[in-house]
Amino acid sequence: MSKLTTVRPLIAGNWKMNGLAAALDEARAVAAGVDNNPPAARLAIFPPDTLIHRMSEVLAGQPVALGGQDCRAEVSGAYTGDTSAEMLADAGAAMVILGHSERRGGYGETDALVRSKTEAALRAGLEPIVCIGESLEQRDAGKAIEVITGQLRGSLPVEALKGEAFSVAYEPVWAIGTGRTPTMADIEAAHEALRGVLVELFGEQGAAVQILYGGSVNPKNAADILAQKEVGGVLVGGASLKAADFLAIAAAA
Ligand code: PGA
Repeated sequence: MSKLTTVRPLIAGNWKMNGLAAALDEARAVAAGVDNNPPAARLAIFPPDTLIHRMSEVLAGQPVALGGQDCRAEVSGAYTGDTSAEMLADAGAAMVILGHSERRGGYGETDALVRSKTEAALRAGLEPIVCIGESLEQRDAGKAIEVITGQLRGSLPVEALKGEAFSVAYEPVWAIGTGRTPTMADIEAAHEALRGVLVELFGEQGAAVQILYGGSVNPKNAADILAQKEVGGVLVGGASLKAADFLAIAAAA
């Protein structure tokens, strides 16, 4: 049996390219909400890099983790505009999202690149969340499971991840920012297939790795999604920008 039942679900808020200094108030409100009413879930916020350091001061001592949305695989060097895993950690991040479909699609990130970024995250002591997900064309062609299990195998540096904390986020590309979600049966089928691969690759550890669902999660659908077998948390985009919505999703866990 999966150990998920004994692990707190992870509620991760991906702010994407949103948030100026004034948005730190939302992080303050999340911290205050958690303080008043500690959720059963583990919370994490992934603000833009420009806010990581300031948010680390806002969240100091609070049970809300902080992460980056991407990193470069190299430690440092002539890579204009990029941020390394070490730099994220130095700014106060403890986690990092890798292989988000907006990076895979917008920047041509391959499974191999996501794998090397995941290794970089571990090197810097960051807990990675590795994202995978099929396009609408791939789903309509009946290839969703084949695509996501292939991405998972290609994106995980198995040897490096052995014994390390990490999670996987299943985010159907067509469900991101669209208000559309798969059926609960489709979410369950996808997560079961991913669980099978994780157990095959990692044995007992693979049975405990949290598999998050992402794509149009909101306070209304969160409880249903989180109740599906093998759903160990959610990766929330738009609905994570407002503390009240993010806290309501956490309360649904
Ligand atoms: P969304 O984004 O919740 O706005 O659909 C999810 C994500 O991209 O992680």
